[in-house]
Amino acid sequence: MDKLIIRGGKQLKGEVSISGAKNAALPIMTSSILASGENTITRIPDLMDVRTMGRLLSNMGARYSYNQGIVEIDTSSINKFEAPYELVKTMRASVLVLCPLVARFGRAKVSLPGGCAIGARPINLHLMGLEKMGAKIRLESGYVIAKANRLKGASIYLDTVTVTGTENLMMAAVLAKGTTILENAAREPEVIDLANCLISMGARIKGAGESVIEIEGVDELKPLKNYAIIPDRIETGTFMSIAGITGGDLILKDCRPEHLDAAMMKLKDTGVIFKETKRGLRVIGPQNLIAKDVKTIPYPGFPTDMQAQFMAMMTIAKGTSVIKETIFENRFMHVAELKRMGADISIDGGTATVKGVEKLKGAPVMATDLRASASLIVAALRAEGETTIHRIYHLDRGYEKMDEKLKKLGADIERVKG
Ligand code: EPZ
Repeated sequence: MDKLIIRGGKQLKGEVSISGAKNAALPIMTSSILASGENTITRIPDLMDVRTMGRLLSNMGARYSYNQGIVEIDTSSINKFEAPYELVKTMRASVLVLCPLVARFGRAKVSLPGGCAIGARPINLHLMGLEKMGAKIRLESGYVIAKANRLKGASIYLDTVTVTGTENLMMAAVLAKGTTILENAAREPEVIDLANCLISMGARIKGAGESVIEIEGVDELKPLKNYAIIPDRIETGTFMSIAGITGGDLILKDCRPEHLDAAMMKLKDTGVIFKETKRGLRVIGPQNLIAKDVKTIPYPGFPTDMQAQFMAMMTIAKGTSVIKETIFENRFMHVAELKRMGADISIDGGTATVKGVEKLKGAPVMATDLRASASLIVAALRAEGETTIHRIYHLDRGYEKMDEKLKKLGADIERVKG
C-alpha cells in the first residue's frame, strides 16, 4: 500500500488546476445507461472511483474507454443488469446504477452497499422511491432485486436529504410514464449537473437545485455528446484549507467559487483572504488563523465533505473551535490521527471541540476514509518535521494526482510505493 511522506512548514505558492468533480462524474457516468448508443463525457478526473465505475459498466456489457479526461461509454451492448458485491463493496456510489437499469431494462440486481468508515449509509430512501414508482423490490443474500414493467410517475417525499437518493430517483423518473415530484430533494451542485446532463439527453426536469424537483417522463433519451462536468468543489475547498493552514498564496484555476459559498464565508471568518483574478481564485492564508465554530448541514450549508479539512486548520488556530457533524454518525475518524500530531481535540457524540495549539509535530498516521486522508495532508503540511500517511488508497479514490499538484506548489512531499 502506498504512503505519503510530508515534511511540513512550507508556505505553498503557485497555481493549481481543479479537476472535474468526483461526485458529478459518478452519477453522470451511470446516466449513460438510460440511452442506447455512444456517450461522451469530458473533464472526468482520473480517480480510483471512476475506474471502478468504468469496470462496473464494462461488467454489464457496455463498451467503456477513458483517455485524458474523456470517457466514452457505448451502452448499446449492455446485456447484464447487475452490480456485484466485489465492486459495490469498494464504492458505495455503485448503487447509482440501480435506477437507470430499472428505468431502461425493467430489472436490476445490485449489491447492498453496506456501511463504510463514516457511517451505516443506508439506501432505504432510494428503494422507497423506486417502489412508489411501481418497482417490485426484494432483498436476497445482500442484493437488491428490482423489477418493473414501466415505472410510473409518483410524488415522493424524502424523509432525509439524500444526494445519491435524489440522483437515483431522478434517473428513475426521466423514463417513467407520467410526472414525478421529488420533495425535500438534495440541492447540491452535483445534482444540478446531473439534471443538466439528463436534459441534454432529452429529459424534462424542472427545479433541480431546489427542494422540489419535477420530472416529466419521456419515452426515450438520446446518448450524451461531449458533456463537460463541473469542477470539484471539495477539491477546491481542500486547497483553500491548504492555503489557510500554510499561510500560502495559491491561485485555484478552473474552479466555481459560487459552489462553495458557505465554506468560503467560514474560511474568511478564520482570516483567509480571497481575491478573484483573471487567472482564477486567489487564496491567501493569514499569519494566524482565528478559531471559528462550524456545523455541517446539507447544501447550501457547510459541506460535511469539508469538515475534516476544516478541523485540521482549527488545530493550530487561535482559540477554540466547536465542530458539529450532523450528516454522518461516524465522521471523526481523523481526530485520533490528528491527536497523534499534537492536536488538542475532544469528542462528545457528533461534536468535536478543538483547542488551538502552538504547533503540530509530524508523526506516522493512518488514513481511514477519503476526507480524513485530506485532513491529514492539511495538518502534515503545517506540522514540524516528517509525517508519514499510510493507506493513501483512500486519498486516491477521490483526489486526482494530489501529491503531484502539491509538489508543484512547493510542498516537500513524496509518494512511496508500497
Ligand atoms: C453523497 O453521499 C456523497 N457521495 C458524499 O461524498 C457526501 O458526503 C454525501 O452525499 C453528503 O453530502 C456521492 O455523491 C457519490 P446521502 P450519499 O445519501 O448520497 C442518510 C465524499 O467524500 N440516508 O446524502 O451516500 C445517510 O445515512 C463522499 O465524496 C438515509 O438515511 O449521502 C446520511 O446520514 C462521502 N437513507 C444522510 O442521509 C438513504 O436512503 C445523507 O446521506 C440515503 C441516505
